[in-house]
Amino acid sequence: MTGTKKYFLRFNTLNRSLHFFMIISFLTLSLTGMSLKFSYTTWAKILSRIFGGFESAGFLHRFSAIVMITVFLIHLINLIVVKRKESVSWKTMLLGENSMLFNKKDFEDFIASLKWFVGKGPRPEYGRWTYWEKFDYFAVFWGVFVIGLTGLTLWFPEFFTRFIPGWFINVATIIHSDEALLATGFIFTVHFFNTHLRPEKFPMDIVIFSGSVPLEEYKLDRPAEYKKLVESGELEKYLSDPQPSIVLIAMKIFGWAALITGFSVIIWIIYAMLFSYR
Ligand code: HEM
Repeated sequence: MTGTKKYFLRFNTLNRSLHFFMIISFLTLSLTGMSLKFSYTTWAKILSRIFGGFESAGFLHRFSAIVMITVFLIHLINLIVVKRKESVSWKTMLLGENSMLFNKKDFEDFIASLKWFVGKGPRPEYGRWTYWEKFDYFAVFWGVFVIGLTGLTLWFPEFFTRFIPGWFINVATIIHSDEALLATGFIFTVHFFNTHLRPEKFPMDIVIFSGSVPLEEYKLDRPAEYKKLVESGELEKYLSDPQPSIVLIAMKIFGWAALITGFSVIIWIIYAMLFSYR
């Protein structure tokens, strides 16, 4: 990092904070949830002892659930606030170039990426959001909705059985448990690979904590957005200063702790499935 190097601001403070709380809550939900799901394994017993027993693990699970649902709601409210502030229509918001919804370019980029992987074409000119980032976003969007709704059903069965039949509590347990396994498996492998382990970013990308990336790196990684901003004269708006070195070091330590925890959970799950599944 040098004082003269220019940085490109990719994530604002709100989105960085939301992602930070998402990491903390998801890791806690996953650790406490899996210690319950695989409670017959030694690692689950050790984990739950660290959490102060299965009962307090259940309390931590519910507390983190409130954090995660709050993050989700703040994100939805923020979308509406941004739409009003920028005075854009829902159509532009949902179908415009910077939308998180899939569009024709994502399909073309996906095909071009496959060709690039086997050396049959150049690296696609990715824009603000790539197809794999949109996929990760909707995987979480769907996951929070399904896991959250079934989790609330398990938490407040008396309330929910006023509207739904009692047997649905059993179904909700299966959906919650299996969707949680899928979400944990997805986030700690596919999401980690997409963001940190792909060759351009290996071994870790801290942009979601620091908010900015060196401009030269951004130009190579997201050429389509870079060109668009240069042509429209808007690039200046996104230029920022780098974070102080000490802050970057703290972010890296946090990032590594999260990555190592996630990978450990995957290893424990695979171990439980292979050697002691019940
Ligand atoms: C976000 C809202 C969530 C709510 C409201 C919620 C709520 C609950 C509740 C009430 C239970 C029963 C716990 C007990 O009996 O003490 C439970 C179990 C569980 N939760 Fe969650 N949870 C949420 C999210 C998550 C997430 C994100 C994961 C993991 C990625 C997860 C994984 C699990 C697992 C594995 C179990 C055990 C299921 C079993 O016994 O097979 N939960 N959850």
